[in-house]
Amino acid sequence: MATSILLSSSGPSCASTRSKCDGLPATSADGKLLVSSLTGGRSSLWIRGAKTSLPGKKQVHSSAFCLVRRRTVIVRAQEEQDQEGQINVNGGRRELIQAASIAGLSLLSSSTRSGIAWGAPVVPPDLTTCAPASVTTPPGVPAAPATTVNCCLLPPTKPIVDYKLPTKPQIHKRRPAHKVDADYIQKYNKAYELMRALPTTDPRSLMRQADIHCAFCNGAYNQLGSTNKLQVHFSWLFLPWHRWYLYFHERILAHLIGDPKFSLVYWNWDNQANVGGNIMPAMFNQQGSALYDAKRNQNHLPPVLNTLALSDLGNTNLTNEQIIQDNLNVMYQSVVTASTPDLFMGKKYSAGDPEPNIGGTLENAPHTAIHAWTGSDKETYLEDMGNFYSAARDPIFYAHHSNVDRLWAVWNTIGGRRRDHTDPDFLNAQFLFYDECGDMVRVRVEDALDNSKLGVSYLKVNGDKLWLNFEPQPLSATTTTTTTTTTDVTPKSIDEIPELGPSSPGKSATNVDKKLVSLAKRPTVIPQELLDKGLAQEDLEEVLVLEDVQVPRNVASHIAVFINLPDADANTPLSIAEYVGSFINVPHFAGEGMDMSMRSVIVRFGIKDNLRRLGITDPSTITVTIVAKLGGSESVPISVKGIKIEYE
Ligand code: C2O
Repeated sequence: MATSILLSSSGPSCASTRSKCDGLPATSADGKLLVSSLTGGRSSLWIRGAKTSLPGKKQVHSSAFCLVRRRTVIVRAQEEQDQEGQINVNGGRRELIQAASIAGLSLLSSSTRSGIAWGAPVVPPDLTTCAPASVTTPPGVPAAPATTVNCCLLPPTKPIVDYKLPTKPQIHKRRPAHKVDADYIQKYNKAYELMRALPTTDPRSLMRQADIHCAFCNGAYNQLGSTNKLQVHFSWLFLPWHRWYLYFHERILAHLIGDPKFSLVYWNWDNQANVGGNIMPAMFNQQGSALYDAKRNQNHLPPVLNTLALSDLGNTNLTNEQIIQDNLNVMYQSVVTASTPDLFMGKKYSAGDPEPNIGGTLENAPHTAIHAWTGSDKETYLEDMGNFYSAARDPIFYAHHSNVDRLWAVWNTIGGRRRDHTDPDFLNAQFLFYDECGDMVRVRVEDALDNSKLGVSYLKVNGDKLWLNFEPQPLSATTTTTTTTTTDVTPKSIDEIPELGPSSPGKSATNVDKKLVSLAKRPTVIPQELLDKGLAQEDLEEVLVLEDVQVPRNVASHIAVFINLPDADANTPLSIAEYVGSFINVPHFAGEGMDMSMRSVIVRFGIKDNLRRLGITDPSTITVTIVAKLGGSESVPISVKGIKIEYE
């Protein structure tokens, strides 16, 4: 008795073998068999399941596995009586790799590339290759127990199909969490109760839903045909991946309570009107409710205001009025003045690329701030919300990301160059999710760009206007309630300020410590490629780039950046026109083979609006002050290799 692998270029269509959601748990008898024998290493055993016989288990799997893209190659693992496997592949190179790897064939190794960008969209990984993510303590940080997490996805129980958007989508109108009534909360509670009650062998259970997030952030999978990890954060994939993630999560909840209209709420943390948006929403705070998670920062329960750049972790003496002003400017700087897709959405990340490291302004703060602010300071790695591997175990995560998604849509309406990326590598990137039936589906980025096609809309709130129209003033012109107390020794005149200059190979990094001040030259020449795009001078953004910023991977840290304010320090308010933005690292585990301790990122801010408000018009040299609001100590070192300003 041996299992043979049939690879053929035609055969039964994957789509046709997929049944409609029958309401049964995704764990069929076969599924249970698989899962129960796969604890702790599901995927690799699953390979063997397809590759060799499983003695004593007659049926490895009842349905065909269709894991290959574009339906050009169908892979079927089926049990046959003592026959040699037939291999008959008629497809592209990548299909071949995937087909072969599913079959556990050695073909994969000879075709694997390492660290080479293909100039092609990111596609789903080979699900049969999954490694646990592990964490070690960064040098100098008090010893924490080494941890590994295994968040490999449950293998699909049916062929994976391309997800088709419904032609008449069910409307999901998402409301602010602070505005929903008791009936709504009860229904929400019920939906999560049912989701929590599903067995962990069901991909729709809350734990397995959270693992999807973990898997694609913490290095569980390599990119297809590459030894580089697949990562859905820190690049242009961040926004569309999370939009799809919420889409299916919402559909699963709706399915579980039998209410197709069920909609997630959004945590309206950007709303600085005093209406309950910028606190932890009450509906998630009832102990014993399915929406409750004990692993949250108990110092941040209502009525404590949330901070969108972790200001209160670095400076605990802030008044509510200052927190609100700071939050408004964090929103203004990260959404309004982020005037290009590269700035706001993050930069390009294509097939085979190494770990992405240029996230957008919305992701870098306030998104990360809310994660770190919500996670428990009593947990080693700020679990649950404060670490990507555990964040989505907390139902508040989905309300948080619902707001992130909403803000993306708001950004789209501001105008100018605030339009989504159009690069085919962006539009054609593909992800895998489980639908409301627990069946695995494949989706494309392009299909998520219009929320109305997904049936998703957001109830409008007036709070947006407060930050959309925020007018930060230069520090000299403000009368803030917080006084800047400069305790650090700062250079006396601009002549004494060094210029760090751009990064270059072999250049060593400079420690930020508590703060770092540097001169930076503004660009004088518009690059030809921008001229070729037909951009007028007034369309161009000036982007301040911090190159190769090194932060410990597993520690929350926060740098705030100011221009023309060399005296800025950790007590300087963020509400002023000199503040250009923040970068906040959310602790996350690394995958096998990754640098476990430090992470290198490129941090970018649009500064044209700041320059205008500060009255800096002529090309000249400005000062850049990087302040470590959280971190910047020996135990949480932060360093930077280069500073430059470029046109975009
Ligand atoms: Cu996937 Cu809020 O991060």
